[in-house]
Amino acid sequence: MQIRPVRQQDLPALINLYRQCFREPPWFEEFTSLEVFDDFTLVLAWPDHIFLVAEEAGQIVGGAIAYDLKYKPDVAAHISEGGQTIYMAELFVDKNLRFQGVGRALVFARLALARLKGYTNLAVRTSVDQPAIKHLYCDILGATVVAAQDVVSTKIIAGVPQQISDKRIIVCGLIPEIALVETLRMTWCPINNRLDQIPV
Ligand SMILES: CC(C)(COP(=O)(O)OP(=O)(O)OC[C@H]1O[C@@H](n2cnc3c(N)ncnc32)[C@H](O)[C@@H]1OP(=O)(O)O)[C@@H](O)C(=O)NCCC(=O)NCCS
Repeated sequence: MQIRPVRQQDLPALINLYRQCFREPPWFEEFTSLEVFDDFTLVLAWPDHIFLVAEEAGQIVGGAIAYDLKYKPDVAAHISEGGQTIYMAELFVDKNLRFQGVGRALVFARLALARLKGYTNLAVRTSVDQPAIKHLYCDILGATVVAAQDVVSTKIIAGVPQQISDKRIIVCGLIPEIALVETLRMTWCPINNRLDQIPV
């Protein structure tokens, strides 16, 4: 397993994986490949973005994106900032490789890179029905829920588009010192790649 920055040639597989992962509950979202391509391309043009993939035996099995909170004004509005905040955006892992630490490895690698780029704080938004994210950030990294939002969105369930409400939570916290991030990652991740092999 390798965590590394995305490459242009990863995009077709990564886009497919993203579309599969967000078709699942609680999201039930349906994106065209072009929509995802456009979103990814936009992020890649932002300075200081972080865009990582997890690769296993030549296959893309996960992805993680982060960027400055200023690009997410609807989340920034809920945060009283005391430092430089990175927004931990997309995170997704192949269904066949879940519960093996891939998501955790991507999160810690993202945090470590964010710390190296000078970010001190993190923010993330998720659904109350996605417990993995709350567990990773609150239970493991000590972040806290600072706001809740009721969102109505179009979900495609059994092929039928429906307007469904969902509760989102916004979680904020400090990014642990780089050594701590590294220690967390090396201790808890079954993935033996070193932080210094990931280019900033
Ligand atoms: C969320 C997601 C990225 C987690 O990936 P993963 O590789 O399975 O995560 P990990 O194996 O690193 O697990 C991290 C921790 O979360 C826990 N966890 C993972 N999935 C969980 C779930 N569905 N429910 C509860 N806890 C979960 C794990 O047990 C682990 O905790 P532990 O080490 O204390 O046991 C993956 O489920 C996914 O891609 N989901 C669809 C997309 C999505 O919802 N992304 C998040 C958007 S905000």
